[in-house]
Amino acid sequence: MDIEQLLKEMSVFEKIMQCTQLISSFYRGTKVEDNAANAIGPYTQLGLKQEDIYLAGSVNFLSDETGAMLPASELRRIQKECMERSPHHIPTLFVQDVIHGYVTIYPIPLAMAATFNPDLMERCAAMAAKEASMNGVDMALGPMVDLARDARWGRVAEGFGEDPFLGAAMAKASVYGYQGRQDKKAKISYEHVGSCMKHFAGYGAPEAGRDYNLVDMSELTFRSFYLPNYQAAIEAGVSAAMSAFHAFDGIPVTGNKKILKTLLRDELHFEGVVMSDYAACTELITQGVAENEEEAAYLSLEATCDIEMMTTVYAQSVPVLLKQGKIKMSQLDDACRRVLTVKERLGLFIDPYRQCDEQKAKTLFLCPKHRELAKEAAEESAVLLKNDGILPLPKQGKKVALIGPLASNPRILGTWRCGGQEKDSVTMLQGLQEKIGANNVVYARGCDIDYRGTDEREIPLAVQKAKEADVVILCLGEDEDDSGESASKTNLTLPDIQKKLYRAVLAVNPNIVLCVFNGRPLVLTEENETARAILDCFFPGSECGHAIADLLFGDANPSGKLPMSFPRNVGQCPLYYNHVNTGRPRSDEYHRCWNQSAYIDSPNTPLYPFGYGLSYTKFAYGPLRLSKKVLQQGKADSLTVSCDITNIGPCDGKETAQLYLRDLVGSVVRPVRELKGFQKVFLRKGETKTVSFEIQEDLLAFVASDFQKRAEPGRFRVWIGSSSDVIDGDEFVLNKE
Ligand code: GLC
Repeated sequence: MDIEQLLKEMSVFEKIMQCTQLISSFYRGTKVEDNAANAIGPYTQLGLKQEDIYLAGSVNFLSDETGAMLPASELRRIQKECMERSPHHIPTLFVQDVIHGYVTIYPIPLAMAATFNPDLMERCAAMAAKEASMNGVDMALGPMVDLARDARWGRVAEGFGEDPFLGAAMAKASVYGYQGRQDKKAKISYEHVGSCMKHFAGYGAPEAGRDYNLVDMSELTFRSFYLPNYQAAIEAGVSAAMSAFHAFDGIPVTGNKKILKTLLRDELHFEGVVMSDYAACTELITQGVAENEEEAAYLSLEATCDIEMMTTVYAQSVPVLLKQGKIKMSQLDDACRRVLTVKERLGLFIDPYRQCDEQKAKTLFLCPKHRELAKEAAEESAVLLKNDGILPLPKQGKKVALIGPLASNPRILGTWRCGGQEKDSVTMLQGLQEKIGANNVVYARGCDIDYRGTDEREIPLAVQKAKEADVVILCLGEDEDDSGESASKTNLTLPDIQKKLYRAVLAVNPNIVLCVFNGRPLVLTEENETARAILDCFFPGSECGHAIADLLFGDANPSGKLPMSFPRNVGQCPLYYNHVNTGRPRSDEYHRCWNQSAYIDSPNTPLYPFGYGLSYTKFAYGPLRLSKKVLQQGKADSLTVSCDITNIGPCDGKETAQLYLRDLVGSVVRPVRELKGFQKVFLRKGETKTVSFEIQEDLLAFVASDFQKRAEPGRFRVWIGSSSDVIDGDEFVLNKE
């Protein structure tokens, strides 16, 4: 398509509408006015006429009034109307929040991070892309790559946790999965979809963990920890970015030229489309930086926000701004050009339907191959937090009581479950019954999942079932909508009613295996004292019951590692492993420590640290070996650090060996350790493998106070271990040039 020629021919209104994103309910075949979507945005003030909607550059929320995904035939109908009714027959772009699966749902992204397996992440994203694309979706509104350290924020569920090295690896893998691996500007095949990294930038650090709240941090912290994930997505060729809701440096990102233009486009050389988050343009008024829609339009377009989502400040105001000379036509052309270019990259001008096919799509949804992949991901993402040896359970000879509000609950897909349906989810009860036979599993719900629940009437029956059983598998945690957007919390313990159930069961049967279903780190301090085993399942997706049953009964061996620190109590939040030392680091974890950076009522350490996760077997790490102790700066020099890992336990298993570094002296304070590599290795019982990591100068680089990234000569400590709290390490020196 000759985009420059098309731009020359398009009217101003056509260009503006390419920068407008609406939702699919506008197109349900009746008049716009009859379709008052309960959108957050100013639907009633949109002021669009029926014929205008067919000029919209993109369409979101591709579901019907029941929330079911629209079939490809419906998207084809809408596309056909857009093509026929728009003067230059420009195809619209169908976008959808495909965050962890389309119809076949795999674990939430936080759980995918726990796999420490970017290849698995890429394969899952590619599966989601294939299902979505065959059903008519052109772009996924993902990956969400906002680094997050505060478990009070519900959207930690959608991201990859607290570490920029792990987060960047998973961000890249996600973009490759969605878009395919090709050059940054190369065509995206019809088996893949575009991807939109979000939410640029720093959305994961809202003050007090309260969603949409102010983000206030030093530029050094931002560039050191929060920016790398977005940079990784850009390096992988991500085709779009979504501007975040929050104010950053006092200006909401959607209207913040410093963030969207100077940083994202000029410094990071992002050439894709920037779309606002939902109604974020008009929220510039609510946030008090725009007097009215005209000012909101001005700020957004000046900031180079190309697409406004579900508002029409551009449609209402850009013609006026152009007449007043406040906005130049070149700015509108630039925005429209970027929208048309992403459509070109997706092949929409060649085939507006991108070969989508309802019948073919249905053969992909939940097909055995896709279910198998979802199960593999659910098995690899679960984290074994505690096990006194009760796990794995024998398949015969033990009477099992399955208890809890998540035991037979199909709400185990997690937040942003897209086209995932409860009816297609394998529950824990189904998984166990298939594994050990329905006669060997007794079930009781015990209480409702509602975190505000107070109804104790089901507890006695649960206690009775527990009494009769040899072992109790307790399925507790959050409802899948108690994490995700608008789901911040001030309390991270299990809900009171679930604690009552837990204590009542414990009183009659100490053989508790606790399975936790959660979208964020929870405070499990009490349960950690008394449960014999704890398996963090997060939200495992469509294949929950099959995967968790395999893990509980030893047909799979847990290998997940925590992507976020689990606090002992919510007062520790935000809590993260790569913290600085302070001038008064806490030395003694168990007594009141005068003049030390400590609490008088809690250790500083997490209950479970970043990178932690047990296995049914045991891995012994041998002594660290360094190929040399001095690395020469500026000479493309490298040293190899390695160690042997031996599986000294009773069964085969996977272990994620983690490389941590500490820059002992820098021109700015440096974290006490930082993840700088990981390798997931499979070891048979008794097998030994050597893991090696190459350390070069760029791995030692950090953002200095002039915001330049560089390594500084000096001493470094290095560890290879199974968690961020690894102790034995060694030292090397980076020698000045
Ligand atoms: C929501 C979310 C964003 C999502 C968008 C469209 O408000 O913040 O992640 O992509 O709306 O659904």
